[in-house]
Amino acid sequence: MKDNVISPLNDDLEGEHAAIIQYLTHAYAMGEGEMACEIEAIAREEMRHLDWLAETIVGLGGVPSLKRGDMRMGGESVADWMRNDVQQEDDAIAMYEEHIKAIDDPKIKRLLERILSDEKSHRGDFEHFVDKAQKERAGDLRGSRQDRVAQILNWGIEHEYTVILQYLFHRYMTSNEDVKREMEDQAINEMQHLGWLSEKLVGKRGTPRIEHSKVDQSTKTADMLSADIKIEQEVAAEYDRAAKEIEETDLKELLLRIRDHEIYHTEVFSDLLKEEEGKGQ
Ligand SMILES: [Fe+2]
Ligand SMILES: [Fe+2]
Ligand SMILES: [Fe+2]
Repeated sequence: MKDNVISPLNDDLEGEHAAIIQYLTHAYAMGEGEMACEIEAIAREEMRHLDWLAETIVGLGGVPSLKRGDMRMGGESVADWMRNDVQQEDDAIAMYEEHIKAIDDPKIKRLLERILSDEKSHRGDFEHFVDKAQKERAGDLRGSRQDRVAQILNWGIEHEYTVILQYLFHRYMTSNEDVKREMEDQAINEMQHLGWLSEKLVGKRGTPRIEHSKVDQSTKTADMLSADIKIEQEVAAEYDRAAKEIEETDLKELLLRIRDHEIYHTEVFSDLLKEEEGKGQ
């Protein structure tokens, strides 16, 4: 019975994941401005949806999916992208309506209805952005820069996306409340890093490639923390190396600032691991 609910909720979760990355890609590619800010705000609402769905899945004894649903990434102009985003919302609306009909649990039904009303509102926002983008003749600010600077920034983007998924997964799967809280906090911090690196890359005429590498899916808290410490140590060293190599001051400063955050993460996770191991003895 529960599987009949977990599976559609995971489909919804994958749809939210796709929407978040699609909308962020569009917002970053438009450069700074009012519309980009509003689109990022919509992406943040999709993150809340993802969060509610994941917590519900875990509550039912399921495992939240790390897969990303289909994205609509084509289009030459911002108006085209906004049409794609309207389509993405249409798909989400259709899927939520279907799942609301199919699921009996009143609490879950209520949650999906709550999400559905957001999606309808987002659809309207994106329709409005189609007009606005046409009037403003908004275009793609990304360039085709492929040098070492672009490589480093895209390496960082890949890393940040990976740890966002990893810390969220660990947050959903651990029963340690302190770990849960820190994972949420640090995942939000990694989202900031993803945004800074992506915006910097677009500003430097590159194209962010928002793909992730392997996500640790440990289910024991100590194993999660060990994996998280390992990745933070590696990445802090890599940001440090990259900052030394880069001559552009603004980028150097950004990489060093992120490096310092990663060192902080390593220390926070190391303390939590000590506490967690202390509990077992
Ligand atoms: Fe959503
Ligand atoms: Fe980071
Ligand atoms: Fe980190």
